[in-house]
Amino acid sequence: MSISALRQYLELLKYSGIKELYRPKSQKAALLAKHQEGYSNCTLCPLHTGRIRFVYGEGIPDALAMVIGEGPGEQENLTGRPFVGAAGGLLDKMLLAINIKREDVYIANIVKCRPPGNRNPESNERLACMPYLVEQIEIIQPKLILILGLVAAQTLLANTNTLGWHREQTHSFLGIPAYVTYHPAALLRNPNWKKPAWEDLQAFQKVYQKLV
Ligand code: URA
Repeated sequence: MSISALRQYLELLKYSGIKELYRPKSQKAALLAKHQEGYSNCTLCPLHTGRIRFVYGEGIPDALAMVIGEGPGEQENLTGRPFVGAAGGLLDKMLLAINIKREDVYIANIVKCRPPGNRNPESNERLACMPYLVEQIEIIQPKLILILGLVAAQTLLANTNTLGWHREQTHSFLGIPAYVTYHPAALLRNPNWKKPAWEDLQAFQKVYQKLV
């Protein structure tokens, strides 16, 4: 099909009410499975030495929203699933508080192997893993991103600003609106942050609900 014929076809679709084209769900699931398989033995950064399970991410392939954390902890390393430890329990509750089930979103992390002792991932580790996350996001094509915590925010948005600065505004990652709130592990350490986190979540919910 020529470019002009394609343009005409897209105009016709738009005229009939179809304003966006999506990758079919089944195609996304297959692409994600292939992507995961291709990288699960990664040795690009030192974190692979402590890896029991590669924590690729989980959720529905055509999720409207992606939730992005920092990196796997002990339970995640054991199970291969993101956010299944104590912070994961709180994340589930945070999402439920805004009427979103864990199963409705896609959850991933900046790094896919556990940093030893749950330390923050180093910049070389984050940089090594970022292309995987970018490709993952490109496959899923979410409409919204919820970023959990300072490390994930600074990595995705490529700056060194504070969490407060990140929380004050909406960002864009790969052209996708991105919201920042506290990491659930930080909320477990400091429950005083739950109130501002709740405000962040409500702002996120407002936008999410318009998309559902
Ligand atoms: N913390 C994260 O950032 N990600 C997980 O998967 C678990 C804890």
